[in-house]
Amino acid sequence: MSYQIIDGKATAAAIKQEIAREVAQMVAKGQRPPHLAAILVGHDGGSETYVANKVKACAECGFKSSLIRFEDTVTEAELLAEVERLNNDADIDGFIVQLPLPRHIDEQKVIEAIDYRKDVDGFHPVNVGRLSIGLPCFISATPMGIIDLLDRYHIETSGKHCVVLGRSNIVGKPVAQLMMRKANPGNATVTVCHSRTANLKEILLQADILIAAIGSPWFVTADMVKPGAVVIDVGTTRVPDATRKSGFRLKGDVNFDEVAPKCSYITPVPGGVGPMTICSLMKNTLLAYKNRL
Ligand code: GUN
Repeated sequence: MSYQIIDGKATAAAIKQEIAREVAQMVAKGQRPPHLAAILVGHDGGSETYVANKVKACAECGFKSSLIRFEDTVTEAELLAEVERLNNDADIDGFIVQLPLPRHIDEQKVIEAIDYRKDVDGFHPVNVGRLSIGLPCFISATPMGIIDLLDRYHIETSGKHCVVLGRSNIVGKPVAQLMMRKANPGNATVTVCHSRTANLKEILLQADILIAAIGSPWFVTADMVKPGAVVIDVGTTRVPDATRKSGFRLKGDVNFDEVAPKCSYITPVPGGVGPMTICSLMKNTLLAYKNRL
């Protein structure tokens, strides 16, 4: 069967260009640009890269950005004080605290200290709760990136059986909520599976749309996928690769080479869901800005 690759890199570039165009028009009318701040604690390699990419995306979209750094010796009280300062800074539309935080800091406490109206990561319980009852909210980046890809590729979701593999707070649970929403994309019949699911293969084989977010490289094999299914691979496990300058490469949750020929659509890793996540953050920042105008 011939399959179509869902190109997240190209879609993300198009969305950023659309945002940049809108921001340029606002600035031309004399409005200030949207402003995103990011708090980065310590020097974790992955976090450094993610935050650098977020700052770069801000520049591409015409946003102002501020990177606020702390050493990993920062106290919880100091971090909470900075969150409070950003909550009250009228020039900042939205901000994120890059995770993970050092072990001596209570991550949940920091997330809950963020004003939910500036929580462009969509991690605050108010935003999570608003999502679950269908109120306007900031939707976390990866789930929104997935919905945008389904939308841009005009993939029918209404009445389809969507199986979500994984139940994390940042992907599995919110994407399940979005797929069952009374909206388009949405209106799907959703099943959530996880590491304790019995008869996993039988359930996955019923999926018209399979969203793999289990964090286990190449977990999904061809025998688990229904012919013609749409497969969205959220996995980004780093595996050592001496031939790469970085020393690693990304491996998805889906064994692409064997699964792709069975699909109608499939996202690659890298270049699928990954590039869409930063786009979602830009969309949320623009939304935060507009809500305050
Ligand atoms: N760490 C890994 N992904 C994310 C994200 O989307 N937001 C934040 N704040 N930290 C992360």
